[in-house]
Amino acid sequence: MPSQRRPLVAGNWKMNFDHLEATYFVQKLVWLLRDAHFDFKRCEVALFPSFTSLRSVQVLVEADKLKITYGAQSVSVTTQGAFTGDVSADMIAHLGCSYVIVGHSERRKYHPEDDANIVDQVRAVLAAGMQPILCVGESFEERRQGIELDFAVGQVRDVTRDLNDEQAAKLIVAYEPVWAIGTGMVATPQSAQDAAKAIRDDLGATFGQGVADAVRILYGGSVTSKNAAEMIAEPDVDGFLIGGAALDAEELCTIARLALKTSARK
Ligand code: PGA
Repeated sequence: MPSQRRPLVAGNWKMNFDHLEATYFVQKLVWLLRDAHFDFKRCEVALFPSFTSLRSVQVLVEADKLKITYGAQSVSVTTQGAFTGDVSADMIAHLGCSYVIVGHSERRKYHPEDDANIVDQVRAVLAAGMQPILCVGESFEERRQGIELDFAVGQVRDVTRDLNDEQAAKLIVAYEPVWAIGTGMVATPQSAQDAAKAIRDDLGATFGQGVADAVRILYGGSVTSKNAAEMIAEPDVDGFLIGGAALDAEELCTIARLALKTSARK
């Protein structure tokens, strides 16, 4: 039976593009997709600008009724108060965001985001009516030890153990091996599939097949138009979280078109 999950092509801009560049990018991307008669019903395209560009993206999307979705790259675990520099989930939701990336390896590395904090971020995102894109994935060391699947599944379990079925079904997981992020060293389609399947099987064992079938599992780490089609042909890979290649509108459009075309054949 073909997958019921709508593929998701998500561009994580990280700390790139001010709000003027973001505006230009969105217009260019939407124009390219429209020119290609892109079918958004069969493939979702989402952008993750920095906080300072979210409002500009919202204005464009709402004014022109654009079919792209968008979200934030991180969120505070608290709702309001004396937390200088933080941005709450409600503030993000009020800008029309559908998603928040949680636990990206760069956040885990450069900020005090431990497992407990990541669980709290997921809860905050869900409570504000958005969906978390939970990033997991091994470093070189775990891969060398051959424990990469257990490691990724364990990182998902750290979060899901506190969720009920309804909350778990709203999760999106991005399997992003740390060694593949921004390095040009992409995982093989088979190892992305193995990780996605291990995560899905574990969700099934905990929450049942309905939840396992609903959760979209993305691959991230040096995705480009050269490797995207092979990757998304895998049965459990439902899309991508893309960094570097998402800074080029033509490249992102090509990846989205490949994702749509290839996943339609699954
Ligand atoms: P990359 O980044 O595509 O540049 O490897 C992916 C990510 O960090 O989400």
